[in-house]
Amino acid sequence: MANETNNFQELISHCKEYGYIFQSSEIYDGLAAVYDYGQNGAQLKKNIRDYWWKSMTQLHDNIVGIDASIFMHPTTWKASGHVDNFSDPMIDNKDSNKRYRVDHLIEGFADEQKAKGNEQLANDTLAAMDALLLANDYAGLKQLIETNKISCAVSKTCNWTDVREFNLMFSTQIGSVAEASETIYLRPETAQGIFVNFLNVQKTGRMKIPFGIAQTGKAFRNEIVARQFIFRMREFEQMEMQFFVRPGTQMEWYNFWKEERKKWHESLGIPSNKLRFHDHVKLAHYADAALDIEFDFPFGWKELEGIHSRTDFDLKQHQEFSKKKIQYFDNDLNEAGKPFGNYIPYVVETSVGLDRLVLTILSNAYAEEKWNKEDGTEDSRVVLRIPAKIAPVKLAILPLVKKDGLPEIARELMNECKQAFHCFYEEKDAIGKRYRRMDAIGTPFCITIDHQTKEDQTVTIRYRDTMVQERIALADVKNLVISHTA
Ligand code: GAP
Repeated sequence: MANETNNFQELISHCKEYGYIFQSSEIYDGLAAVYDYGQNGAQLKKNIRDYWWKSMTQLHDNIVGIDASIFMHPTTWKASGHVDNFSDPMIDNKDSNKRYRVDHLIEGFADEQKAKGNEQLANDTLAAMDALLLANDYAGLKQLIETNKISCAVSKTCNWTDVREFNLMFSTQIGSVAEASETIYLRPETAQGIFVNFLNVQKTGRMKIPFGIAQTGKAFRNEIVARQFIFRMREFEQMEMQFFVRPGTQMEWYNFWKEERKKWHESLGIPSNKLRFHDHVKLAHYADAALDIEFDFPFGWKELEGIHSRTDFDLKQHQEFSKKKIQYFDNDLNEAGKPFGNYIPYVVETSVGLDRLVLTILSNAYAEEKWNKEDGTEDSRVVLRIPAKIAPVKLAILPLVKKDGLPEIARELMNECKQAFHCFYEEKDAIGKRYRRMDAIGTPFCITIDHQTKEDQTVTIRYRDTMVQERIALADVKNLVISHTA
């Protein structure tokens, strides 16, 4: 298709116009970095979640799924290290009182330099930042900002405070009486719900190492710099899987899951050249290896999923803080013919943000297309090429006119298909206009019922991606859609 463009601001407007994503509480002017999913967005998100859940818990016979609470005992977060360590270095501009995450501020500067063609300066600045972050050298980071005259986007000045750490967890009170209430946190990751249930699941599921526990659910972070639409939100959803392995085998599993997860993203139509691995320079307090799977978003390469080798840190910490033994008895035999015995398993984690994946799918699917028709005039459309298996609406059923018994045939087809997949019925407007609306929503197949249908029981099927139209038997419609979407 000639002349395709992919524009981020237009994608954001498109998401609103076609019922995918709205700003939260928009009638009150919105809430920063919080978004709501509309009728199509919620269905797309559910389809992606279900696809992930199936691939983890149904296609791997050694992975089971759970659904832990958002609220957890406050000691959980002391044990996990989040109370002491879940913070980012921040800096405030004294003139605008705006707060920035130091790495985002410097990365923004590097992006600007790249755009101006100063590739070398951008790379040197990022390398210097990595080294300073690794050394926890906050004075050095401030110096780097000042030396490069990095200014605040609001005040445009370089009048900065010192660099300080801010914890990202939201807290609230549990208990009805103020004096008896206790501070608890909204979970900043779903993973801890899996760790504290390790023994429950292992014992009741009679799970043998290596095995995984998967979960999807909301997580909350008081992100200071919240921008780029649903890329970085304060309330978001994670899909995490903790894979418990024998100590010493973690790098083997880390490499396995790294490749496996990249392939999974490719199975959703993300081209391999739009995905890459990025090894972490500064490891989190719990990790002995970590990388991001990055996607080439419209605003640059950014993290989509994290693969972390978390050692035995979390289970060990929960054992210490809860005073309950959290160990696994491995009765498989080692080289000396003896059981491996009791140990705390090591963990390899795969952690992907569902909202980030929605943005990935939409960015990859969105296209503005223009072409010349046979008569020489120009035509255009905006299309969401969402893979059929996760598209919110699979089939649009469109009677050509609102009379002559065509709506009745269309309704009958709708009743036949709607148990199996999501259908959409529409009889208003010219057929070309209806096709364009379905392209914009991302519906992969449209069926038009016309007068010929009454004579020979055939219909026109129109394919979203190629716009090719052909006649097929009415009786074959349901199975054709199922064969493309199952
Ligand atoms: N349990 C490990 C963990 O939470 P993380 O790298 O902090 O690791 C994992 O987060 C994934 O969660 C990220 O790769 C990203 O997709 C998603 N994520 C993290 N913070 C987010 C935010 N503020 N908004 C949207 N998604 C976020």
